Amino acid sequence: PLLAERWGDNPPDSCRYAEHRLGRLLYAMALLEICPRFESWTSRGAGRKRKLSLFEGVEEKKLSGKVKLVTNPYTNTPYSERYFEILEKRKTLPVWQQKDRFVDILSKNQIMIVVGDTGSGKTTQIPQFVVEAGYATNRKQVACTQPRRVAATSVSRRVADEMDVMIGAEVGYSIRFEDCCGRKTILKYLTDGMLLKEAKTDPLLERYNVIILDEAHERTLSTDVLFGLLKRILNCRPDLKLVVMSATLESKKFQGYFNGAPVLRVPGRLHPVDIFYSEFPEKNYFEAAIRTVVQIHACEPPGDILLFLTGEEEIEDACMKIRNGIRNFGDHIGPVKVLPLYSSLPPTVQHRIFESAPPPQKEGGPPGRKIVISTNIAETSLTIDGIVYVVDPGFSKQKLYNPRIRQESLLVCPISKASAEQRAGRAGRTQPGKCFRLYTVESFQDQLPSQTLPEILRSNLANVVLTLKKVGIDDLVHFDFMDPPAPETLMRALEQLNYLGAMDDDGNLTEMGMLMSEFPLDPQMSKMLVVSPKFNCSHEILSITAMLSVPNCFLRPREARKAADEAKARFAHVDGDHLTLLNIYHAYKENEEDPSWCCENFLNIRALQSAANVRSQLLGIMNRHNLKISSTQFTHPNYYPNIRKAIVTGYFMQVAHLEQSGHYLTVKDNLMVHLHPSTCLDHKPQWVLYGELVLDSTERSSIRMVTDVKGDWLIDLASQYYDMLNFPQCEARRALMRVYEKRGRGI
Ligand code: CDP
Ligand code: MG
Repeated sequence: PLLAERWGDNPPDSCRYAEHRLGRLLYAMALLEICPRFESWTSRGAGRKRKLSLFEGVEEKKLSGKVKLVTNPYTNTPYSERYFEILEKRKTLPVWQQKDRFVDILSKNQIMIVVGDTGSGKTTQIPQFVVEAGYATNRKQVACTQPRRVAATSVSRRVADEMDVMIGAEVGYSIRFEDCCGRKTILKYLTDGMLLKEAKTDPLLERYNVIILDEAHERTLSTDVLFGLLKRILNCRPDLKLVVMSATLESKKFQGYFNGAPVLRVPGRLHPVDIFYSEFPEKNYFEAAIRTVVQIHACEPPGDILLFLTGEEEIEDACMKIRNGIRNFGDHIGPVKVLPLYSSLPPTVQHRIFESAPPPQKEGGPPGRKIVISTNIAETSLTIDGIVYVVDPGFSKQKLYNPRIRQESLLVCPISKASAEQRAGRAGRTQPGKCFRLYTVESFQDQLPSQTLPEILRSNLANVVLTLKKVGIDDLVHFDFMDPPAPETLMRALEQLNYLGAMDDDGNLTEMGMLMSEFPLDPQMSKMLVVSPKFNCSHEILSITAMLSVPNCFLRPREARKAADEAKARFAHVDGDHLTLLNIYHAYKENEEDPSWCCENFLNIRALQSAANVRSQLLGIMNRHNLKISSTQFTHPNYYPNIRKAIVTGYFMQVAHLEQSGHYLTVKDNLMVHLHPSTCLDHKPQWVLYGELVLDSTERSSIRMVTDVKGDWLIDLASQYYDMLNFPQCEARRALMRVYEKRGRGI
């Protein structure tokens, strides 16, 4: 009723937008990027190495006679040579000139906004200014949020270098399932999602003196929720300061929202960028992109190239094709270094984008070139110096949510004008550049939206609602969102949590909800974990959850697809993909010591290592909350059914029924779906539970991560949802009715 009171019959446009966007989608990607792989970090080893080089630097300086015996206040050791080298670079950043003004404004205001072009030094310098100005005292830290994990880890390492300290000591980072901070940490880079998670246990974020929300223009779901949350916290904590930083900003909107906070504008130092458009629409942006990159390398003067593509698979494919394309020219053209950049890439490989271009093959030969092929990460989060050419096909992968069918999917969508401008800007960092847009000028003007829609308007909000409830915000309708989500989306979230038993009918968090919110997982997943002890299978559900939380572990190289599929088939479980994941996890643990095992079985070792890491962290949370860790005897006939039942308690809203026509229809929403070809199921069960619903290029929906379940279980384990009084007439309903009748139970 409150929602109706607020919006009545006129919900904001955002509500309708998701569907509109779905209609216009170009093609859908089946691949969901879930979360990055985690790199283990051994502080001891890193520390020893670092210390050595510190002293080496001092020795050298003494020898060269230019001794600058300045002591690093954080470590009480002399600064290394590298420190001074980087310092010179830092001094050239536009933000450096604004240091005094920044500190002055910060001291006089509780909230301030910093706007400056990408690469002007906001992310690396501003947090250091805050620390140097003395705000990291009383054991209270300075936090700087990043929407992307890659940015949080890479920038914190850079800043640790700039401050000449070890990563994990004075400067640290924290991302989901990986915390690299210590007792000494005063400056912490963390994902916005992690700060939100911290708010669940520390509602006033009391461990911080200053919070910097970086990349605010990206308007990620977590950043938007933090906006509202921090506004409330600031009211209760006059000692806390907030800095909102952004590359481009609808300044008026932000200023209005943040109570008229002062804006510090950092003048950019961009060189002019010539923009070229395709004359005719490109039929295939991928092929056009490869062609353009190869042409630039063959014909244009020196300077590195940045190509924007949408995801891992596409990027790896492009890397190979570009290398091949350039190889065909022989040594008429210079050598290239083709480097991918996407979130699930191992950090060491990610870091290669900062390497310089390769030298000419022979003296006086044509110059080498670096070619970076990246997702949106390189649009604003990471700055690669030396880029002169940008190739922009005009697409990015975006999350969309359709509340009507409760479907969230990642789709390749046209980017916004604002994004296109940002991408072009990347070409003019060090000298005048060129940007090749692989779309027509008419498309740019008429078809691209001016701004990307904030993520909060295109997401399932169940997790957000759970978090806000946990933090103690009861009135979600009047929560101060910068852009309030569609009422239908909020309603769907409340409904989902209610069915999961996380919220009661009055909208209060239940004990189950409290427990669920302790896990950094989607509500369905945390539900199945919390109930798993009841089914005597918490060991197994932990492993499955961990496997679901890391990137896809199956490798399927183009040249060895058949062998890879055969390897996968060896792990297949007849009852579906969740149990197949369990088989793989068990087999991995048995063969952990054998270095070639993963490779022989076409499995991604990093994904499996992360799964083991994630599992042990989830186990820690289970133990802290006294959730019993147990297993059914493997030989017991209920070993597998128990696991499948536990999965049903989380995912009962994601079930499809096999119709007489041979098609699957999703329960209640009646969307026609197909089993995704990646499934291990070799038969078509009457009821299947699915982990994801994906649209593909033909706009055909398919379901992935599928498990065979029973009609009986649905009725028993989710009676509220499978209540016949609220069930539309359909074959699934008739099938369930038969189950009820067979049991001789009334309805
Ligand atoms: O945040 P903003 O885009 O304003 O700039 P920044 O990320 O602080 O980058 C400032 C400078 O630091 C750029 O020249 C980057 O190339 C450099 N940087 C780097 O060398 N290594 C990193 N990991 C991050 C930044
Ligand atoms: Mg930045």
